[in-house]
Amino acid sequence: MEIISLFSGAGGLDLGLKLAGNRIVWANDIDRDAVATYRLNVGNEITCADIRDVAIGDIPDGDVVVGGFPCQGFSRANLRRKVDDERNAMYRFFYEVIRVKQPRFFIAENVKGILSLGHGAVVRQIMADFGCAGYHVVHRKVNMADYGIPQHRERVIFVGQRVDLGEKMLFEFPVSTHCRDGIGKPKWVSIKEAIEGCPAPGDTTNDPNNYGSAYKFVTRNFTAHRVTDPEKPSPTILARGNGKGGVCAIPHYNGERRLTIRESATVQTFPPDFVFTGKMGSCYRQIGNAVPVEFGRILGEELIRIGKLFL
Ligand SMILES: C[S@@+](CC[C@H](N)C(=O)[O-])C[C@H]1O[C@@H](n2cnc3c(N)ncnc32)[C@H](O)[C@@H]1O
Repeated sequence: MEIISLFSGAGGLDLGLKLAGNRIVWANDIDRDAVATYRLNVGNEITCADIRDVAIGDIPDGDVVVGGFPCQGFSRANLRRKVDDERNAMYRFFYEVIRVKQPRFFIAENVKGILSLGHGAVVRQIMADFGCAGYHVVHRKVNMADYGIPQHRERVIFVGQRVDLGEKMLFEFPVSTHCRDGIGKPKWVSIKEAIEGCPAPGDTTNDPNNYGSAYKFVTRNFTAHRVTDPEKPSPTILARGNGKGGVCAIPHYNGERRLTIRESATVQTFPPDFVFTGKMGSCYRQIGNAVPVEFGRILGEELIRIGKLFL
C-alpha cells in the first residue's frame, strides 16, 4: 500500500508499516529533531513543516492516510483536558486531508482518554465527521502488551474505509497474540526480557543513545514514580511528565536509575541500530510519542493483506 503519513514523529509507526512491505510516499512533522531522526532511520520522504502551512494539493495521492495526531489535549494525564482544546484542532487537519485526498483507508492512533472526553462526545464527533467525508469508521481500544510489545500501552485505533469499498470492513483488527496469564497464548513479554540485553549506560562510543536521565527516582504512587516490576511489561513510555515541561523516563527495575534512551526505545520495539537525534529530552519525547515499531508492523501486515484485494 502507498501511505501518506501525517504527524509522523520519529517514525515508529512508519518504520513498522515499511517493514511489513508498504511504501511511505509522503510524511510530515513540525519537530526538527524528529524529522532528522526519521531521515536518518526511516527515509527521505518526510518534510519538516507545520501541517497547517501545507497545501493539501501538494501531497501526493496514496492508498492509506495514517497519523497519530497530537494527543496532549486528549490525554488523561492532562487534567485540563477540554473538548475545545486548541491542540485537538490538529485532528481537523487530519480530517481535511482525508476529505480532500479520499484514500481507500485511514488509520488514526490516539490515547485512550479520547474515549471519555466530553463523555464520549469527541469520539461521536470524529465518527460523524469522517462519515460526512465518505467513510465507514470503526475504533478499537488496544493494549499493546497483548501484541507482544513489552509495555502496557493502551491506545485507540480508528480505521476508516471509503464507503464505495462496501459496507463490510475489509481491515480486520489483528487478533491479540499474548495475554496476561499466559493461558492459551504466550504470556505478556516483561520489561526484563526486553531490555536485559541493553548495555549498561555510560559508554556512547557505539551507541549515542546509551545514556539517560539523572532525574531522581523517589517512590511515589504516581505515574513514572512507581517501582517497575521486572516480571511485567513496562509501564507506558511517556512523552512528558517531569513537571517542568520535560519528559519523565520510567524507573529501571533495579530501583537505582531511570531507563536510558536506548532502553526506552527498546521497550518501544525500535531496532537497536535506530539512532535518535537531538538533546536528551527531545530523544525521550520522540520515543514516548511513537507507536511501537512492532505494532506498526502488525497494522502494516494487515494493510498488505487487504492491499492484495486491489491488485
Ligand atoms: C503522537 S506523535 C506521532 C508519533 C508517530 N506516529 C510515531 O509513531 O513515531 C505526534 C506528532 O505530531 C507532531 N505535530 C504536532 N503539531 C504539529 C503540526 N502543527 N504540524 C505537524 N506536526 C505536528 C509532533 O511533533 C509529534 O511528533
